[in-house]
Amino acid sequence: ARKIIIDTDPGQDDAVAILLALGSHELDVLGLTAVAGNVPLRLTEKNARKICELAGRPDIKVFAGAIHPLMRPLVTAEEVHGESGLNGPRLPEPTMPLQAQHAVDFIVETLMRDDGVSVTLCALGPLTNIALALIREPRIAPRIREIVLMGGGFFEGGNVTPAAEFNIHVDPHAADIVFKAGIPIVMMPLDVTHKVLTSASRIEAIRKLDSKVGHAVAAMLEFFERFDEEKYGTDGGPLHDPCVIAYLLKPELFEGRNCNVVVETTSELTMGMTVVDWWGVTKRPKNALVMRDIDAEGFFALLVERLARLPS
Ligand code: BDR
Ligand code: CA
Repeated sequence: ARKIIIDTDPGQDDAVAILLALGSHELDVLGLTAVAGNVPLRLTEKNARKICELAGRPDIKVFAGAIHPLMRPLVTAEEVHGESGLNGPRLPEPTMPLQAQHAVDFIVETLMRDDGVSVTLCALGPLTNIALALIREPRIAPRIREIVLMGGGFFEGGNVTPAAEFNIHVDPHAADIVFKAGIPIVMMPLDVTHKVLTSASRIEAIRKLDSKVGHAVAAMLEFFERFDEEKYGTDGGPLHDPCVIAYLLKPELFEGRNCNVVVETTSELTMGMTVVDWWGVTKRPKNALVMRDIDAEGFFALLVERLARLPS
C-alpha cells in the first residue's frame, strides 16, 4: 500500500477525504497531522480524532502541529464549517489520545527513516506544517515522493478574495516555501474542486449506505453545501479535499498540465494568489502538475464505494 501522511484542518470536506483514505486498502495512513485553518488547532486536532473513531480506527496516530500561520494572523472559516469545524452530524467527543509528538517532528522523523522516501504528503489545509518541516530539516525535500495538495485556483479565481483560495490565502508564505522546494507537487485547485458538487441524489446515495459513516457524512455534507449555495448560488457544495485522495486512488479521473506556479506573498490585493503559467509564457521551471478537470461521476462512484467499506 502507498504510504501517506494527511496534513489537515477538518473541516467537513477534510473529514470526507480522511474517510475516503481509511476506506481504501491501497493507502497506508501513517498519521494525521492537524494544522490551524478552518478552525483553530485545538478543534482541528480533535475533529481529526473524531473522524478516526467514526471510521473505527482509533489506532491511527493524530498529531497537533502549527497553531498559526508563519507570518500572518490566523484566518478561520466558521461561516463555512460551523463553530466546531465539523457541524452537521452529532459525533461523540473522541477518547483516543492525541500523540505527544509535535506534527512537524513526526513529519521530519517519518521522512528521514530509511523507508521515508516512499512517503506521499497529502495536504488538505494551509501548508504551515509542511513548510515548517522543510525549514526544520531541509534534507526531507528530496526524500518526499510527492505532495498532493488542495489549494489555489487560477481560471476559477479565489474563494476568500477574488484572487486567493482559502488554504493558500491563510498561509501564503508557507505555500511559497513548498512550491519553491523542488518537490514533485500535484495541485488540486478550485478549477477542479468546483466541478465535484454535492446534490440531493449524491447525498442520498451516501445516506443509503445506512451505516454510521454514511449517516454522518450525509449530515456533514448537508450542513456544508448550504454555505456555497447561499453565498455563491451554486447547486451543491464542492468536495475540495477528497479530490486529493481520489487522485491517489484513480489518477485517470483527472486532467491537468505541468506548469510553473508562483505564490503571491507581497501584494495585499492579490495575497495568496497562485499564479499558474498554464500557457508556458515564461521560462520559469515547471514545478507542479496543475489539475483542471475531473470526471465527477467517476469521483462520486469511487467515494460511495469506499465509504461503503468502512464498518457500520
Ligand atoms: C479549502 O478550504 C477549506 O475550507 C476546505 O477544507 C478546503 O481545504 C477550500 O478552499
Ligand atoms: Ca481543508
